[in-house]
Amino acid sequence: MAVFVDLDVPADELREKLYAGNLVLLTRLRSVSDFVEYTREQLTELFRPYDPEHAHEHIEPAQMAKILGSWKPSFIHSDISKKLVCEIIREVGLPAEHTHYDLPKPRTSFPVGHLTTGVAFAFPWHRDVWYSAPAQQINWWLPIYTAREDNSMSFDLPFFDKAVPNSSDTFDYYRNNAQRLTTAKQVTREEQARPGALGHKPADDLVVLPAPGAVLLFSGAQLHTSIPNTSGRARYSVDFRTVDARDLVAGKGAPLVDALCTGTAIRDFRNVADGSAFDEELVTRLFGPPPSDALLVFSRDEAERSGQSA
Ligand SMILES: [Fe+2]
Repeated sequence: MAVFVDLDVPADELREKLYAGNLVLLTRLRSVSDFVEYTREQLTELFRPYDPEHAHEHIEPAQMAKILGSWKPSFIHSDISKKLVCEIIREVGLPAEHTHYDLPKPRTSFPVGHLTTGVAFAFPWHRDVWYSAPAQQINWWLPIYTAREDNSMSFDLPFFDKAVPNSSDTFDYYRNNAQRLTTAKQVTREEQARPGALGHKPADDLVVLPAPGAVLLFSGAQLHTSIPNTSGRARYSVDFRTVDARDLVAGKGAPLVDALCTGTAIRDFRNVADGSAFDEELVTRLFGPPPSDALLVFSRDEAERSGQSA
């Protein structure tokens, strides 16, 4: 497995490289710089007069949870955020008519001892496919300020396609949607099901640190973790995901070696060209019929009711 920097290949090959467990770092995209600039403006406004990287020195965890709990949904659902994501996808050359994306999520990681639950939860070793992501999911991760080795995230590439003991059997996408309604209220205690590896100790993990303006692409099947933040600075990053509709139909994607979760996140994705969702008949054929009372998506309405990020 390799880390490709500014890989210049046709879109089909790019996805195949990711499905095979490689990482791809793209550093020359105007649209990524635009997204960083936009997000910095938002954070500067949100924390004024404080420097966003040091805001936690002035704002108590409970107050921070409140501030983020109302800002995150507005960022996620704004038309500007959607437009910027679609511009990145187009600039990379993924075909708009076949590519579906989900909304960009701003992530905040505060220094150890500050807010680390609920809206600022630090993920243990996990794969996104343990959270009902499809095998075709590609994750796009971009730091807003300088990412550091002591506040970023880490990969265990050799375990990309090797099963590890994990708690993904506790996770159901639809049940999780229902539970998320209360997440923003969690300041000191974590209540949602958060699948993770059980006792995983990587021999040699890899930290990739894109500069602000660069974006890191990786398969949703990659085993990765948040690094506990001991940098003294808050870390802000944004991530979103894409799925290629043709690969989904063809069953072409990353290997799923140990995902035991139920339900699917596929209904969260929208087509880049026309904003449409995947056809429900296709979803049911590929993933099976959901229970009749399932909360299929965590929509904007639910997000606003809970003050949480959808
Ligand atoms: Fe993840």
